[in-house]
Amino acid sequence: MKLPRLDNVLKAVGALALVGAIVAAAVPLLGLVSITASSGHWAITDVVLHGAMRRAVATQSLGIEPPPLSDIAMIAEGAGHFEIGCAPCHGRPGAAPPPIPEGMTPPPPYLPPRIEEWKPRELFFIVKHGVKFTGMPAWAAQRRDDEVWSVVAFLLALPELDPESYLQLAYGELADSAPALTGFPGGISRDATGAEPAAPDAGAALPAEAAVCARCHGIDGRGRGLGAFPRLAGFPGEYLHATLESYASGIRDSGIMEPVAASLDAESMRRVAAYYAEQPAAGAAPAEPAAPPAARREDEGPLALGRRIATEGFALRGVAPCAYCHGPDPVARNPLFPDLAGQPQRYLARQLEQWTRGGGRGGTEYAEVMYEAARRLEPDEIDAVAQYYASLPTQP
Ligand code: HEC
Ligand code: HEC
Ligand code: HEC
Repeated sequence: MKLPRLDNVLKAVGALALVGAIVAAAVPLLGLVSITASSGHWAITDVVLHGAMRRAVATQSLGIEPPPLSDIAMIAEGAGHFEIGCAPCHGRPGAAPPPIPEGMTPPPPYLPPRIEEWKPRELFFIVKHGVKFTGMPAWAAQRRDDEVWSVVAFLLALPELDPESYLQLAYGELADSAPALTGFPGGISRDATGAEPAAPDAGAALPAEAAVCARCHGIDGRGRGLGAFPRLAGFPGEYLHATLESYASGIRDSGIMEPVAASLDAESMRRVAAYYAEQPAAGAAPAEPAAPPAARREDEGPLALGRRIATEGFALRGVAPCAYCHGPDPVARNPLFPDLAGQPQRYLARQLEQWTRGGGRGGTEYAEVMYEAARRLEPDEIDAVAQYYASLPTQP
């Protein structure tokens, strides 16, 4: 048998490839690709895409080390955000995903039965990076891995939560007036209880816009005592307002506060800042036990070390005493220098850690001054000084 000549074979293959390429280009150019979400995926496409997503997540999350994830502060922080940032698509315990996101392809799944299929590092990867071509969004503040881990801590607790304990976590004292899940604003409620959206009813003095803040920070602005949310009560209105602006514009990184602050118009921002500035700060229980009054250098525990950093600093390393700008003392300071007394240790330490990283933590117009202070502290010194300030009672 005579074999075809090699150059003829190559020509034939080339011609076929050309026809293939023309057809492949013509299908989208003629508008023939199915892009309708209403048609869903074929079952086989679904299996292939979801399988590819699972494999990608498993491989690309290798090497991510989870921190401890059972802290109630992390779970509560994650729950507070889930209600705003996830439940409108995924539903919440007792309430299936609302109808509008259900029309997406693929539709966002109801999460409680799904969690056990994923490792914590995989959940971290999904929540931090989102999933392309599905509508699952990436975390708004890519440098805040600590916030993403709080969401993971919450997701791990989610399968065990009944509707009441979920609302308690996400709404605190406002749990009874929690609105039914409507998905996107104006959506139709599909709450399992069939309840109508309720108007928050939490004391006449609370401006309507502050009801959302009170879920996490408390009606009294003291942070709900969970170690998760900072106190706002008694801060100068200028600091609260300038801080909200810096979250809204993304200058201060937070995937939790940015969407909340960005949803406020100028007048609402002014009103919530004024409301929390008026709440009394004094009397809030300190978050940690008090520091011993004086400790010798050789038996310095973290609280005493923290006190020393705050009141004396490290002259040789160029760390000024924190107290110079943050107290504790009765000296009137610039209203944009925040009071640290009684704030949760975890919150304070996480703020300091952000300044030690590239890019740092933005904030008000004076935030720059913190770079030098924070960058020269060792990790154990950050924990110690955070613990010291957390132990101080709040001043009137
Ligand atoms: C705009 C709608 C939308 C929002 C908001 C959203 N998701 Fe998703 N999410 C999706 C969609 C769609 C998928 C399906 C992706 C797929 O099947 O590949 C998904 C998938 C997931 C998965 C994987 C589930 C599985 O088993 O396949 C997890 C976990 C998840 N989302 C968590 C979250 C968390 C936590 C938040 C909030 C921080 C969130 N999502 C916000 C739409 C959304
Ligand atoms: C989902 C929970 C949640 C909601 C709702 C929420 N916050 Fe926050 N808030 C947080 C968390 C968590 C932080 C810490 C963020 C960080 O690490 O920067 C924070 C930080 C802040 C800070 C910075 C405090 C400081 O000492 O610098 C201010 C101010 C603030 N929130 C005001 C508000 C206001 C006003 C509202 C309502 C419009 C609100 N928050 C709603 C969780 C929430
Ligand atoms: C020269 C003044 C100054 C000194 C000294 C200083 N700070 Fe600050 N600090 C600030 C200012 C201003 C802010 C507000 C940043 C912003 O705009 O969000 C701040 C913010 C902070 C915050 C975040 C508070 C919050 O509510 O989010 C922490 C924590 C903090 N400082 C700790 C320290 C520690 C610890 C030291 C000492 C090692 C120190 N600071 C020294 C001026 C100072």
